[in-house]
Amino acid sequence: MGTNLTKYNFSVSREQREQISGHKGKVLWFTGLSGSGKSTLANALDEKLNSKKYNTYILDGDNVRMGLNKDLGFSPEDRKENIRRISEVAKLFADSGKIVMTAFISPYSKDRDEARKLIGDDFIEIFVNTPIEECIERDPKGLYKKALNGEIKGFTGIDAPYQEPQNAEIEISDKTINESVIFILNKLKI
Ligand code: ADX
Repeated sequence: MGTNLTKYNFSVSREQREQISGHKGKVLWFTGLSGSGKSTLANALDEKLNSKKYNTYILDGDNVRMGLNKDLGFSPEDRKENIRRISEVAKLFADSGKIVMTAFISPYSKDRDEARKLIGDDFIEIFVNTPIEECIERDPKGLYKKALNGEIKGFTGIDAPYQEPQNAEIEISDKTINESVIFILNKLKI
């Protein structure tokens, strides 16, 4: 696959697109357990950036899995493909001059490293480090209960792995949503 293709170089450059945005394109890659607060945090950060007229977008696991990735499940291979597609899409968004936030568990270090390699310097990993006990207590979708009852197999943190980032640019733990947003903005120097 991918044969007999020739890359077309379009005239409008990334820099021209970024000029319209008023800032550079970036990928803020949130990773963490289900229920850790990735989407909530991305949403709060998005609200803040949007109010400051930043050109942003969010790609979120549950939402993307209802559309683009609805053919994928939760086996290691499918999660890998999920992350591969999102990395490619996020790269396009950054190239279009947007700050794109991705909220996917992305449990495998290797898959996140591939995303980092593909996206390059624009990739900022944000580890939402909420302990599993806290996620189980929150259980916003009732999925931990099902996983613990054996009704869902291969649930991250229960009977499927979550490999913690070792060198995330930003790590969030023990902070309110507001504190986290301020912490991220400071780190990003925005
Ligand atoms: S990832 O592992 O491939 O990155 P993703 O973030 O897209 O996962 O989707 C995770 C969401 O799918 C969870 O927040 C949860 O709502 C739902 N989900 C359903 N089954 C599982 C499962 N076996 N493991 C983890 N999340 C699951």
